Amino acid sequence: MHRLIFISRSLVGTDPGALDAIVDRSATLNQRQGITGMLWSDGSSFAQVLEGESQAVAETMNRIRVDRRHTEIEVVLDRPVVQRMFE
Ligand SMILES: Cc1cc2nc3c(=O)[nH]c(=O)nc-3n(C[C@H](O)[C@H](O)[C@H](O)COP(=O)(O)O)c2cc1C
Repeated sequence: MHRLIFISRSLVGTDPGALDAIVDRSATLNQRQGITGMLWSDGSSFAQVLEGESQAVAETMNRIRVDRRHTEIEVVLDRPVVQRMFE
């Protein structure tokens, strides 16, 4: 089990449509890949926790890194863990 936490600067503000699009797509893909976690935004920043098998987390983060809806991505934690914090 692996946990990755990142913060980034949002480029979509508080546009509910844009946030919904991210959340909807993420929920579908994360469920498929066995990834859980949480996504937070105040309109200017994002913070996200991703938990799952190491390869699934890495693949997901590779897609998130090139997403133009945010920038200045900073990984603050990236390590194996014993169990999930989020279901
Ligand atoms: C802040 C932020 C968080 C995201 N979180 C996830 C996520 O948890 N899982 C996911 O699959 N995509 C997430 N995405 C979306 C991905 O960047 C990407 O658009 C999506 O995985 C679809 O990839 P594709 O366009 O290559 O099909 C996130 C995007 C942003 C901006």
